[in-house]
Amino acid sequence: MTDAADPLDAGERLGTEELRALQLERLRASLRHAYEHVPFYRESFDKAGVRPEDCRTLADLARFPFTTKADLRANYPYGMFAVPRERIRRLHASSGTTGQPTVVGYTDRDLSVWADLVARSLRAAGGRPGDVVHVAYGYGLFTGGLGAHYGAERLGCTVVPASGGMTARQVRLILDLEPSVIMVTPSYMLTLLDEFERQGVDPRGTSLRVGVFGAEPWTEPMRREIEERFAIDAVDIYGLSEVIGPGVAQECVETKDGLHVWEDHFYPEIVDPVTGEVLPEGERGELVFTSLTKEAMPVVRYRTRDLTRLLPGTARVFRRMEKITGRSDDMVILRGVNLFPTQIEEIVLRTPGLAPHFQLRLTREGRLDALTVRAEARPDAPPEVREAAARSIVAAVKDGIGVSVRAEIVEPESLERSVGKIRRIVDLRPRGDG
Ligand code: DLL
Repeated sequence: MTDAADPLDAGERLGTEELRALQLERLRASLRHAYEHVPFYRESFDKAGVRPEDCRTLADLARFPFTTKADLRANYPYGMFAVPRERIRRLHASSGTTGQPTVVGYTDRDLSVWADLVARSLRAAGGRPGDVVHVAYGYGLFTGGLGAHYGAERLGCTVVPASGGMTARQVRLILDLEPSVIMVTPSYMLTLLDEFERQGVDPRGTSLRVGVFGAEPWTEPMRREIEERFAIDAVDIYGLSEVIGPGVAQECVETKDGLHVWEDHFYPEIVDPVTGEVLPEGERGELVFTSLTKEAMPVVRYRTRDLTRLLPGTARVFRRMEKITGRSDDMVILRGVNLFPTQIEEIVLRTPGLAPHFQLRLTREGRLDALTVRAEARPDAPPEVREAAARSIVAAVKDGIGVSVRAEIVEPESLERSVGKIRRIVDLRPRGDG
């Protein structure tokens, strides 16, 4: 799909007007496809009193009803599919840790578009045909492993399908097979960092040049930490299974200024999470996606619960989304103040003496919720530095976020390590009396 002389594919070379025209044409076809083939959409459009042909401009999309995770669950397993089951070539599913799983499906063409978009993402990240790409996202029902895998093959890379886990072996593979690109969650990259150090191998001395990190929120200080410790470029990849998987948006290595949404395939909106009203460009809110080309499982105004804002394009014509602050589900409301794990990450990473590992522990004391930030000391941090770090976290959270928390500095390597998506919040509050 790409050649060395012209690194951009046809979609990336569109002008703004051409892009908007293509989006409208695809949007109208996609709404029609959903309405005609998925009973759920027929009912929800009818209930809202809209027909696919009412979408005459991109702004008209705001008249269409939202789709939520609950809708997907209610139609489990095959109810959201717009093609006969025989045309579904692959299924993936969400982990289902928060309830019933949701299943997503792909036709041959969907799989091909997905591979193209991950290839486009990888190229934007600085990957090139001929690179060895180490994929340490989990393989299986999770979209990370196989999504990255087929995209890297599509770009013309040599893929090492390492999957997640067996951390000592990962390090061995990286040393032996000399990949230039790694695709992995940022938290598992930190687990790999520990393992390099345990084996006495300099993580800055490997063949790795670029890391493509996603599947969970991470911050600018985390980018700096990973870039410095590994001597690589670290860029952000975003996606979700309901929309396709990884490769919905990608940061370009030359600018590292947020993620370009592959808008020729996924139309983004930002809405007020409470009222559902579409917010003007540049305002923060909940990201909503409508698929423009998907056959097996079109989604119309799918509420991601991810919080970000849209910004104009830079390195590409496509609009950018700012790094995700967090999911509305991961927001802690502490005595009326909203707090995201990413805010704590920023504080922990700029506090001297601390390793980039932390956890948020929620407890109930009397009728009040309490939050303890547990952060790991760096091995070389003396007791007085650890004490100062605890005080500095408490002060930074109070000043920056406006709420009192406790901080506990724990021994090096004592917090649980990630093998995939990390769980930052440990909720120890009694259940059912909330
Ligand atoms: O996590 C797909 C993926 C795999 C993306 C590998 C990137 C790399 P799900 O398991 O369905 O799919 O989880 C989707 O993960 O709604 C976000 O809350 C979060 N997420 C994904 N990428 C990012 C990112 C995959 N770059 C959910 N930054 C999404 C922040 C992310 N959060």
